[in-house]
Amino acid sequence: MRKPMIAGNWKMNKTPTETVALAEELKKIRVLHNVEIVVCPMTVSLFAASQALKGSEIVLGAQNVHFEDKGAFTGEANCASYKELGVKYIILGHSERRQYFAETNETVNKKVLKVLEQGFRPIVCVGEKLEEKQAGITNEVVCLQTKAALCGVERSQIDNVVIAYEPVWAIGTGMTATAKDANDTIRAIRGAVREMYGDLAEQVRILYGGSMNDKNCDELMSQPEIDGGLIGGASLVAEKFDRIVNYGR
Ligand code: PGA
Repeated sequence: MRKPMIAGNWKMNKTPTETVALAEELKKIRVLHNVEIVVCPMTVSLFAASQALKGSEIVLGAQNVHFEDKGAFTGEANCASYKELGVKYIILGHSERRQYFAETNETVNKKVLKVLEQGFRPIVCVGEKLEEKQAGITNEVVCLQTKAALCGVERSQIDNVVIAYEPVWAIGTGMTATAKDANDTIRAIRGAVREMYGDLAEQVRILYGGSMNDKNCDELMSQPEIDGGLIGGASLVAEKFDRIVNYGR
């Protein structure tokens, strides 16, 4: 009942010109099953992407937003601008933003509440660091991040939330969680959502991210709890992204 989703997080790659070129390639992909495809270009490339993707089924996402409507926040971008560009999804709390841009559970929560109020769908990223995995506290870490991010989200809004489980040690490293570990951790995250929202937790899509690629997507996507993928590096190569959105084929 949860529609699978494959989202490309392009990070700080692809200028506007390069974005148009990649978007044109992605538009040619024949999707062989029922999956929602999202791409999240850099903020400065969103306009180019929105033009290039017109008329295609590929949905536009952003990588971050500010939680205030407008004002003196030099260098930031607001929800109203994303709305004009046709953005539907916004990645929030990515570990790179937590690590390099001082995002906290509190700011992630403020952003989640703002984007839901503004009619967007957040892709909330949670994930443990290597030392937390080694200490055996993965579930505690990801469940706390999940609950903190969802604090104050209404029951009527929860089905608009997407969560991405991204073990920090797996991002951009070529190391993936085993399919079973990813599945187990996602089950724990869903348990945290269930504690807050009861059976509505079954409607929340939870993705896996962290070195997911054209080689390991079939195994990861065959797990019952994994509803999709948040793909970094492999989403920048059209042939690889094609293979991933057509996982299992
Ligand atoms: P990766 O990035 O696929 O390059 O590991 C995933 C992400 O950070 O969303």
